Amino acid sequence: MHEVQIIGTGSFVPEKVITNDDLSKIVETSDEWIFSRTGIKERRISTKEDTSHLAVKAAQKALKNSEISKEDIDLIIVATMTPDYFMPSTACLVQKEIGAVNATCFDVSGACTGFIYALNTGFQYIRTGQSKIALIIGADTYSKILDWSDRSTCVLFGDGAGAVVLKQSTKKGIISIYTGSDGTGDKLLTCPAVSLNNPFAENIEAKKSVVSMNGKEVYRFATTIVPRSIEKVLENTIYKKEDIDHYILHQANARMMDVIAKKMDISIDKFYKNIDKYGNTSAGSIPIAIDEMNHKSILKKDDLLILVGFGGGLTWGSVLLQWNI
Ligand code: ACO
Repeated sequence: MHEVQIIGTGSFVPEKVITNDDLSKIVETSDEWIFSRTGIKERRISTKEDTSHLAVKAAQKALKNSEISKEDIDLIIVATMTPDYFMPSTACLVQKEIGAVNATCFDVSGACTGFIYALNTGFQYIRTGQSKIALIIGADTYSKILDWSDRSTCVLFGDGAGAVVLKQSTKKGIISIYTGSDGTGDKLLTCPAVSLNNPFAENIEAKKSVVSMNGKEVYRFATTIVPRSIEKVLENTIYKKEDIDHYILHQANARMMDVIAKKMDISIDKFYKNIDKYGNTSAGSIPIAIDEMNHKSILKKDDLLILVGFGGGLTWGSVLLQWNI
């Protein structure tokens, strides 16, 4: 089996900044309510950029950062639940735009855990020798699927994308991965796709493709599953939670991160937060955070990182890795 390292990162968010005060002109809400419950101050909303556009920009930056040529990429995986099309995949659109002619391309759907699932898939391809250099992207444009009259959801999300380049190596990068799902929680966080539509269908019920969420239950789920995911990814390794330099959680709620840090008796300073600027960017949130930390030189060579995703499905997953850039 081969070792697998992250060798470059990139991210991209739309230009348009929407503040909490801007939202208070659309729905009955306030900066005070949103910030005190979630830690969000503003988010980026696409005015013209669809998911593939965000993904392409993030990918181009990751390629530049990793100093590899586009022809060397043999795998592109995009984690998204807001693709431009059902077909072709967003990964194929990225391939076309960046000219990665030698890549196999597909999307994965894991809601806010999507990036972790995609990273795991890329890791397994490289570990087993089927791939040598993979581009793993998390990209979402939730603004397309929000009910902008529902204040309980429309204030939480933002648009954005992040990408990492994974490479086969002799030195350890990704150390351990843990993932899980629970389909019985399907109703807690949903966004319907298209309805049955054929001359033979019975009881055609028009579905509206908008996000709905049982916030309290999802909160309960997240504050339980994140500590468990951290414990599980450390199991059978030589590391303990104290050895970890940075915890990079899916950015869903800053208050929730405080609760998790306290519950696990880990300093909150080890939890990276950028939700104030971007809101919840779903599959984009973890790679955007990694890229920011990389470019701000917060990540140092040999640092130990734990990434944790959780979200609709229900889904969750964590990755333990050593930073090698
Ligand atoms: N502005 C003002 N008031 C609001 C707003 C708003 N934007 N939204 C809801 N309220 C009101 C509600 O109507 C309710 O009023 P009521 O008491 O008169 O009925 C009150 O505020 C409290 O609402 P709650 O939903 O109970 O608020 P809560 O304290 O639970 O916070 C929140 C809501 C922030 C969404 C929280 O539940 C949460 O963070 N949940 C987890 C979300 C999450 O982690 N998602 C990650 C997965 S995302 C993915 O996978 C796609």
